[in-house]
Amino acid sequence: MTTKAQAVLDWVDERFPLTSSIKGHLTEYYAPKNFNFWYFFGSLALLVLVIQIVTGIFLVMHYKPDASLNASGVPVAFASVEYIMRDVPGGWIIRYMHSTGASAFFVVVYLHMFRGLLYGSYRKPRELIWIFGTLIFLALMAEAFMGYLLPWGQMSFWGAQVIVNLFSAIPVIGPDLSVVIRGDFVVSDATLNRFFSFHVIAVPLILIGLVVAHIVALHEVGSNNPDGVEIKKKKGADGHPLDGIPFHPYYTVKDIVGVVGFLIVFSFIVFFAPEGGGYFLEFNNFVPADPLKTPPHIAPVWYFTPFYSLLRAMVWPLLGIDAKFWGVVAMGGGVVIIAFLPWLDRSPVKSIRYRGPIYKSMLTAFVIAFFILGFLGTQPPSYAFFGVIPGAPVAQLLSLFYFLFFLTMPWWSKIDKCKPEPDRVTG
Ligand code: HEM
Repeated sequence: MTTKAQAVLDWVDERFPLTSSIKGHLTEYYAPKNFNFWYFFGSLALLVLVIQIVTGIFLVMHYKPDASLNASGVPVAFASVEYIMRDVPGGWIIRYMHSTGASAFFVVVYLHMFRGLLYGSYRKPRELIWIFGTLIFLALMAEAFMGYLLPWGQMSFWGAQVIVNLFSAIPVIGPDLSVVIRGDFVVSDATLNRFFSFHVIAVPLILIGLVVAHIVALHEVGSNNPDGVEIKKKKGADGHPLDGIPFHPYYTVKDIVGVVGFLIVFSFIVFFAPEGGGYFLEFNNFVPADPLKTPPHIAPVWYFTPFYSLLRAMVWPLLGIDAKFWGVVAMGGGVVIIAFLPWLDRSPVKSIRYRGPIYKSMLTAFVIAFFILGFLGTQPPSYAFFGVIPGAPVAQLLSLFYFLFFLTMPWWSKIDKCKPEPDRVTG
């Protein structure tokens, strides 16, 4: 560096911790040397967050949160999205990047969470990283749900109607709460305006704050790795972990490989299959919202469907309270219970590499159950597999298994026959 540049840097460093932050978080931040494929998804989640924010900023320049009808009898909000798609230069790609980006976000975050289950990344001392992660997941769900109302299509309208109505099942406060959420007695222009406000500013701010907290907590304790070994326990004479390598340049370069791979797949979908066969953008949402015409089958977008199945599985009133309320409890509980994993898992080892057959079987069964619940959530409650096996009882059994997986974990994770964890990472 020239003396002039160094002088400028010194001037900045005396007033702002620039060099020390770069060292602390990049060039002298030691990460385990054995990161694999599963470690791509944290940086990819960051990338998708940036894509969503940048494309979102451009969408807001042309989108109008207005449910009133224009001269052609089409809701202004719906027409403004069509205007973006047809008339705004490059508008279609911005919109498709954002709508496909929502699905990509969930794909990436689900894989990122699954990595946590594979390698026990939520275990001590990473409990707070996990809790921030679960809160991010909740905020992401709220963000996606409110964003889906904005195009004011049939699914936007009726999806919001179904979900907001659920809150009215909460005893005592429910009916008033649902009015507060909607800002009206039905989903209306007031609902559209407040969802717009939450979607573009309130929830993104919360999300960004939580992501910062997530990464600060991560850098405090350091990353876990596919062996589940704490690299800080074995340090060399220079004070650096023997199994660690500086994040920059090693992992900045590795993460670029992940980014390129992701962008290839993402571009392919944006250009050739932006609707994702009706899974990313439901066909009914290309029809303007009509409060007088309920679609015959209302289903949430794919990333909500496993939890939607938990909701629909509760069909019995309990303690004199409507089944709908217990459905809400099951759906909310299904997300919240994830936060408790650090305390439910009692295994002596972290990584699946050293876990016994019970964990491996339970995790496989959990993933299969999650997929089937997800599939059933996209179908009407009357769905039957091959036209004979009724889907509803299958969803109920799998919902029971979903909760039992977590609730019985303290027991089976303890008695599982684990292999001894190595002292150092195995490469
Ligand atoms: C916007 C969403 C998210 C972003 C941007 C994000 C970002 C990151 C990044 C950059 C890392 C470090 C790189 C890596 O280990 O892959 C990380 C690690 C981690 N994240 Fe996330 N994350 C998000 C959501 C979540 C969620 C929903 C959970 C779980 C509920 C979670 C749990 C974890 C855990 C446990 C680690 C440490 C992993 C380890 O050291 O093995 N994250 N996250």
